[in-house]
Amino acid sequence: MRKRVFIASLFLLGIICGCSKSSSTTTNTGVPNVAVNFTIDINNPQYVNLTVPSGWMYVTGGYHGIIIYRVSQDQFNAYDRTCTYNNAGIVQVEKSSLIAIDSSCGSTFTLLSGAAQHGPATLPLKQYVTSFDGTNLTVSN
Ligand code: FES
Repeated sequence: MRKRVFIASLFLLGIICGCSKSSSTTTNTGVPNVAVNFTIDINNPQYVNLTVPSGWMYVTGGYHGIIIYRVSQDQFNAYDRTCTYNNAGIVQVEKSSLIAIDSSCGSTFTLLSGAAQHGPATLPLKQYVTSFDGTNLTVSN
């Protein structure tokens, strides 16, 4: 009997560990899925805004466009610009470069994590997977 409980515990642990793998994939916030897969060379002059931490820029793609935000020297976050309140509004980065706001509903999101700071939206911005090799930044689902 104890052996069965032990095996069942291992099975549950496997399920829990299996779930954590999905954190490396695109965050699903209800924003419609659109295939995203592109690579940019951040040394290209058109991406000069991404050469320093806290830099950001808009790029085409996703459901309503994408914001790429440089969190640190080697970490970039890529957010869909769709406001997650009802997936209709489009967020814009504020002058402070710290938050994105949908001016139609007033929802705000921090660029550090995409989390909703101020409602009515409660879900975070949809986030895409990023990988950076020191020169090339890939954004994908
Ligand atoms: S999503 Fe419609 S107003 Fe923010």
